[in-house]
Amino acid sequence: MSEIIAIANQKGGVGKTTTAVNLAASLADSGKKVLLIDADPQTNATTSLGFNRNDYEYNIYHVLIGIKKISDVILKSKLENLDLLPANIGLVGIEKEFYDPSKKNRELLLKKALNSVKSNYDYILIDSPPALGPITINALGAADSVIIPIQCEFFALEGLAQLLNTINLLKKSINPKLKIKGFLPTMYSVQNNLSKQVLQDLEHHFKDKLFLGKENEFIIVPRNIKIAESPSFGQPVTTYAQKSKGAKAYNNLAKSILKG
Ligand SMILES: Nc1ncnc2c1ncn2[C@@H]1O[C@H](COP(=O)(O)OP(=O)(O)O)[C@@H](O)[C@H]1O
Ligand SMILES: [Mg+2]
Repeated sequence: MSEIIAIANQKGGVGKTTTAVNLAASLADSGKKVLLIDADPQTNATTSLGFNRNDYEYNIYHVLIGIKKISDVILKSKLENLDLLPANIGLVGIEKEFYDPSKKNRELLLKKALNSVKSNYDYILIDSPPALGPITINALGAADSVIIPIQCEFFALEGLAQLLNTINLLKKSINPKLKIKGFLPTMYSVQNNLSKQVLQDLEHHFKDKLFLGKENEFIIVPRNIKIAESPSFGQPVTTYAQKSKGAKAYNNLAKSILKG
């Protein structure tokens, strides 16, 4: 049975793409078949795996509007067991489709598209854009669960109520089985008192929704230069700097998810 996990938070720069790419790579490295879906017109997940615009003709947009079969658009990445459904800036055009009232089930375009390939994968991870618009709704409509990265900086929890509210509305309408898989504190910095404060707030409000490592410690992604560098080498941090603190954090997250 494949598990579909959306990585979502309508705030930009909180670590969604970083989490989607590195978790996907780590799960693939442990032998699981993984599909990473780039659902952001900014195409950062696609670029992070070393693809550029000239490497592919079609992208998720063509799948969502129904002119291409998803299996014809999925690319093999350089990493074993890891495939990518790439994005392109043209994906912004999906907004128009979405607001076309003649289109039925507009929130479930991605879910429908995934039906034909789902059984090929153990995990399907969806990197969402920084908005609660139609693309994120499609990601959450297709997902079994959602991981919410929280940047350990000022304003971290701002907007979270709105995201949780959206998730609840989707549970009551198009996706009753949608679960919050967990909150992932990202860019944690020991020198930064704000980081500690954000973590305390998360522990206070969502203790049972934080990921646990093997010693039952909370999994926290540290601010780590190797994480920031790795996309420019077209690699996840888990292969670019295997021994870095960043790689370890994402490998621990993968282990926690494999445990279920
Ligand atoms: N743990 C981290 N340590 C250092 N830099 C990070 C870390 N996580 C993310 N970044 C960097 O922060 C920026 C925003 O992260 P990204 O994953 O692209 O956020 P989002 O997808 O939510 O917009 C990127 O440049 C990324 O490389
Ligand atoms: Mg992103």
